[in-house]
Amino acid sequence: MPEDSLTIVDNRTGREVTVPIVDGTIRATDLRQLSASDGDGGLLSYDPAFLNTANCRSAITYIDGDAGILRYRGYPIEQLAEHATFLETAYLLLEGELPTAGQLSAWEDEVRLHTYVHTNVTKFLEGFRYDAHPMGMLLGTVGALSTFYPDAKNIADPANRRLQRVRLLAKVPTIAALAFRHSRGLPYVLPRNDLDYIGNFVNMTFEIGGRHEPNPVLQRALEILLILHADHEQNCSTSAVRGVGSSHVDPFSAVSAGIAALYGPLHGGANEAVLRMLDEIGDTKHVPAFIEEVKGGGGRLMGFGHRVYKSYDPRATLIKRVADEVFEQTGLNPKLEIALELERIALEDDYFVSRKLYPNVDFYSGLIYQAMGYPTDYFTVLFALGRLPGWIAQWDEMLNDAEQKIARPRQVYVGAGERDVVPIEKRG
Ligand code: CMC
Repeated sequence: MPEDSLTIVDNRTGREVTVPIVDGTIRATDLRQLSASDGDGGLLSYDPAFLNTANCRSAITYIDGDAGILRYRGYPIEQLAEHATFLETAYLLLEGELPTAGQLSAWEDEVRLHTYVHTNVTKFLEGFRYDAHPMGMLLGTVGALSTFYPDAKNIADPANRRLQRVRLLAKVPTIAALAFRHSRGLPYVLPRNDLDYIGNFVNMTFEIGGRHEPNPVLQRALEILLILHADHEQNCSTSAVRGVGSSHVDPFSAVSAGIAALYGPLHGGANEAVLRMLDEIGDTKHVPAFIEEVKGGGGRLMGFGHRVYKSYDPRATLIKRVADEVFEQTGLNPKLEIALELERIALEDDYFVSRKLYPNVDFYSGLIYQAMGYPTDYFTVLFALGRLPGWIAQWDEMLNDAEQKIARPRQVYVGAGERDVVPIEKRG
């Protein structure tokens, strides 16, 4: 009997099967050898919300949730946040290696060449109401890009896939900035290709009448935040990109599915929810009562808890440091005090300690975005800009993986047995 194997006895039939263990996993399809009766299709594994199911083999991001470790392609997130730019990190995620200086400069030029969008994209955006949520605008407009680039359907061609990856990285910040300006009724600012990736994005959002003064500390802080968000293995939005992409749709449509998933308050929408929560609490003296309300089941402490991290979220540690640098420039945000008090009380409270609930990446990021001048409903858009290279890298990896097929989970049917349709006039 091989050591790396699992022997299972089916007590319904007495049948014993031995299945191999590879990389700490058994194949769910191996369970199908176990049947209670002919034609039952074999044993299924039941795993709502994929709590214990690996959906792919991936070489992109490594997380050890208990130890609080996050690495992209083997590089610790702390080192990338210190030494790399966002586009360098995107290159790493997509190509597998950090670029040389020459490769980075060619990569930056390549992305710069594609920052403009067709003018009909701006007309499309103008169709949104003045108060449309920017995430709704982003997901709709990125989806609409597939109609501008019908060649993107040709996903079997690696060179074509690469071109669409570059288009996405270059154009999503432009669309995000257009959505920002649309919400404010401000004229659109075109991409400036003499600026770097972050500088150009910040300019497209904040420039008014040639008076925007770039602040290098705030721009580097935004860059670090985007690096920290760049990938997070099989999270909800990445699973959406992989799942939708597995039907072989074009990458613009697949990425817009990822943006939709990120929009939700349990995922990327949490940074916005944290600010709304801090507003609702209003004062540090209300923090104890708020904590009691959460413990009593009256809502969640937004920005706390994580499916994978059970000791601390390494991104949250780095973000707190970035917050200090940003607040030194912008002055203290009064909501920071409420956040610090919430964190202090929650980290001492048995409810949170016993459930291993710690601040996650979203707890402080919203406060930083606000200090930079971005409005609350825009925070998740900034998260989307950060996560974009991860989505595209995972999409590409999936398409190159010979084991992958169209994502199609099974179910346990618990509905009615067969019954006859009674014509409407005879229904009571
Ligand atoms: N506040 C209060 N209680 C919580 C929280 C929270 N933030 N998170 C989890 N719990 C409790 C939950 O009620 C449950 O308690 P019990 O065992 O008594 O029923 C227990 O902790 C386990 O929670 P869970 O829902 O089974 O955990 P999960 O792994 O399914 O959920 C989570 C992870 C991130 C969705 C959740 O912690 C949460 O809703 N947090 C608040 C939203 C948030 O900050 N999301 C951002 C996540 S990080 C960035 C990203 O992914 O976008």
